[in-house]
Amino acid sequence: MFKKILGGLLAFGVLVLAIFLLIAWESSIEPVSASNSDAFSKEQINRGEVLAGLGNCETCHTTDPNKPLAGGRAMPTPFGTLYSTNITPDPKTGIGQWSEEAFARAMREGVARSGSHLFPAFPYTHFTKMSDDDISDLYAYIMSQPAIQAEPPENTLEFPFNIRLLLAGWKLLFFDEGRYETDTSKSDVWNRGAYIAEGAGHCSACHTPRNALGAEDAGKAWDGAIINNWYAPALNASNPTPSSWTETEAYEYLRNGGSRFHGVAVGSMADVVHDGLKQAPDNDLRSLAVWLSDLAQASDEQQASKRSANAIRAVHNTQNPSVMMDEGERLFTYACAACHYNEADSPSALRPDMALNSAISAPTPINLIRVTLNGVSLKEGLPEAMMPGFSQALSDRQITSLLTYLRATHTDQPAWENLEQHVRDQRPQTQAQ
Ligand code: HEC
Ligand code: HEC
Ligand code: HEC
Repeated sequence: MFKKILGGLLAFGVLVLAIFLLIAWESSIEPVSASNSDAFSKEQINRGEVLAGLGNCETCHTTDPNKPLAGGRAMPTPFGTLYSTNITPDPKTGIGQWSEEAFARAMREGVARSGSHLFPAFPYTHFTKMSDDDISDLYAYIMSQPAIQAEPPENTLEFPFNIRLLLAGWKLLFFDEGRYETDTSKSDVWNRGAYIAEGAGHCSACHTPRNALGAEDAGKAWDGAIINNWYAPALNASNPTPSSWTETEAYEYLRNGGSRFHGVAVGSMADVVHDGLKQAPDNDLRSLAVWLSDLAQASDEQQASKRSANAIRAVHNTQNPSVMMDEGERLFTYACAACHYNEADSPSALRPDMALNSAISAPTPINLIRVTLNGVSLKEGLPEAMMPGFSQALSDRQITSLLTYLRATHTDQPAWENLEQHVRDQRPQTQAQ
């Protein structure tokens, strides 16, 4: 009897394994000799360049700026470090031997030419939504770039996360292959914006929290998440800043890197705006803005400016110069206020207003701490402006009282917990980025 059950279980196990292997196994695609870039038209390559920007290919696939797309960028995950690959057309170390079919399969299904499954740190869960024409144009662009010989370092993922075959199981659970589907209840412009955001732009890869297995948590879509030690704020209506993302402000932010009612793009978002969206035509950014303001359930432009003016006025009104200032207020007045003061009705994007800024109302203080320590470089935010860092001038304790003061007086959000510990944690890391 016992033997029979055991035998049955074993047979069942073998069957499950066989089915899994059948699903998991992907064939390799024949190599092609290094492709001839004359095969592509100039227009096709130019369109592909815009798509490569929207997809941030260069940001993730470059370590040395003199070797664009040659890979090797470390991507720390909770399971170990993964390195991006060389996607230049070098036949040995890059993807020079990949036919368009092999390239399209990688973008759509997350499978390399050899047939092995790719890790979803490569956002194919989004790129799968791109149209055939767009994938073709992207291939033309990538294959027309200089071939660079470079081998990325070996991944250091722990067992069992280093077994690529197991990714087939991950895909069964978390990956829907398929093109973007038009939402017929929305306008063409909205659909264009959503197509870019969900597909090439992979915006939710950073703005949506992930589950324990590294997949985006659909139940918390657009709720905001920590990525690369930055906080990517909620883009839906749960964003706690006083003024919502209207079309005008969303466009300004995505085109120029800053909005008068919000703040400027720093950290990973600076890469998105200044490297990624730079080549994108105005129409595409306007479409993204239409989609974004709908997602944020933005109020109309007049309402938004009224709310921002009220928020600034509320802070001005509660400050009473005759009362003794505490340490936080004193530090803010002397170290920050000269550059961060606005008239209520005309805030300037060049002086992000603390009453409006996302970093101050965010659920985590990391963006505010990093900006206070390191400032804002010329490559971030608005190109014509920069902010000095205060890591030398202020101690951890001083920064803690300054940010506690800002949080308490410039937002209606609860105090951050363990703030001083957060400041301490950010100090060594901030030097690197
Ligand atoms: C968020 C970072 C990130 C972005 C953005 C990104 N990639 Fe990748 N990509 C990776 C990583 C990491 C791998 C390696 C995955 C693995 O080893 O399983 C990879 C692998 C690939 C591969 C498979 C190459 C091989 O040798 O197996 C291709 C092709 C590729 N990426 C193309 C692109 C293109 C084209 C874009 C832009 C549209 C892009 N990637 C954007 C991180 C990224
Ligand atoms: C690589 C990660 C990453 C990707 C991809 C990304 N973002 Fe962001 N985003 C961030 C981070 C981090 C911030 C916070 C930056 C700051 O505070 O200046 C941010 C900030 C923003 C903000 C400002 C939010 C606020 O309340 O201040 C908007 C709007 C935004 N992103 C839109 C987008 C859109 C649209 C896309 C896709 C085209 C996108 N993001 C893709 C990381 C990312
Ligand atoms: C010399 C002028 C100056 C001083 C002093 C200064 N800032 Fe700034 N700050 C700026 C400018 C300019 C920007 C926008 C930079 C850009 O767009 O490139 C900025 C941006 C910011 C942002 C917005 C970041 C975002 O993601 O939107 C925050 C927060 C900030 N500063 C906080 C502070 C704090 C806190 C202090 C005091 C410790 C301070 N600043 C002192 C000029 C200054």
